[in-house]
Amino acid sequence: MGRKAMCAVPPMGWNSWNTFTDKINEDLIKETVDAMKDQGFLEAGYEYVVMDDCWSLKERDSEDKLVADPDKFPHGIKALSDYVHEKGFKFGMYSCCGTRTCANYPGSFEYEYEDARQFAQWGVDYLKYDNCFKPQNQDGKTLYRRMGLALANSGRDIVFSACQWGKDSVYDWIRSSGAHLFRSTGDINDSWNSIKDIALSQMDKMSYSGSYCHNDMDMLVVGMYGKGGNEYICAGGCTDEEYQTHFSLWAMMNSPLMIGCDVRNLSSQAKKILLNRDMIAINQDIECRTPFLLNCESNSTDLFVMVKFLSGGDLAVGMFNMGDVPAMGVVDFWDLGLPVSAGMSLEFYDCIDHVNMGKHNEMFSAKVPEHGSKVYRCRLVSKK
Ligand code: GLA
Repeated sequence: MGRKAMCAVPPMGWNSWNTFTDKINEDLIKETVDAMKDQGFLEAGYEYVVMDDCWSLKERDSEDKLVADPDKFPHGIKALSDYVHEKGFKFGMYSCCGTRTCANYPGSFEYEYEDARQFAQWGVDYLKYDNCFKPQNQDGKTLYRRMGLALANSGRDIVFSACQWGKDSVYDWIRSSGAHLFRSTGDINDSWNSIKDIALSQMDKMSYSGSYCHNDMDMLVVGMYGKGGNEYICAGGCTDEEYQTHFSLWAMMNSPLMIGCDVRNLSSQAKKILLNRDMIAINQDIECRTPFLLNCESNSTDLFVMVKFLSGGDLAVGMFNMGDVPAMGVVDFWDLGLPVSAGMSLEFYDCIDHVNMGKHNEMFSAKVPEHGSKVYRCRLVSKK
């Protein structure tokens, strides 16, 4: 029996780190699962519930096994993963390729196969694997391949989420390691600058991401409003417009969509952003085509237009204004591969406001607010 192919499209779910850091426990995970289920997150595609760093005791036991902190998880990990599964979700955990995790709990270096077996026994479906405390003489590439092989032979289908921050030319070798997604940047924080920096840093890297191995631009900060789990993550928070742009970018750029806020206390705006089915459909398009940047005749150098071919012939067109004043975005259909000679128009559907913008010929323009975005699904239709 072979393994199932996993993550044809970017995984979606929730991760504990951004909001809760070391303040995780079984009640929090259960309440999160319940809240996600009740509010329709599972139906929308958010399937992985991932517990990040700080779940274990500070040392392994006498048999060298990882031990869940009994104060945080009095019923143990298996009972928790059973709960997550009963509700229809998949369960994720965290470890590190070095000797310790980033928050200084035991890492998996030289325990890779044993830990992979342990995760499989606990019913884990997803492992986030970090990059701290790597022994100096060790090559990251080898260590990620090692865990990739261990997980693939653990007897359970476990998604391998490499968290390697884009170091050591990760783009060149990560697909070879068995990873289904790979972090490409340092940690996000809850600020417009962080969102902007991450997105801009990946513009020339988008072609490294594809089916079964996706560029992970880090967990979403949508809906956090400055309530991060530590000082670094807090960073002041963002406006709803900025959170929307963040989501639009991650969706268009084919990043995994891992929610990082407290889903038990969501604002209606954050909920609307995260549950937007039209945007999710663009992110989850089965072909995972690389988006491309369009020449854009804008009045601002801070505005860019990104286009993604979707299966079935539609196009997703995103306009992003990274600048501090409103700007006009202009799309010339010639640049999209649609010359006048084609005799076709483009019908625009606004995926954020969910309105049909009608048929357009040769070009389309829109005003984009500062730090704002517009995302359209466009269909080729006859001019007549
Ligand atoms: C690193 C990772 C974060 C998070 C923390 C946990 O910084 O990049 O996403 O997992 O470790 O300590």
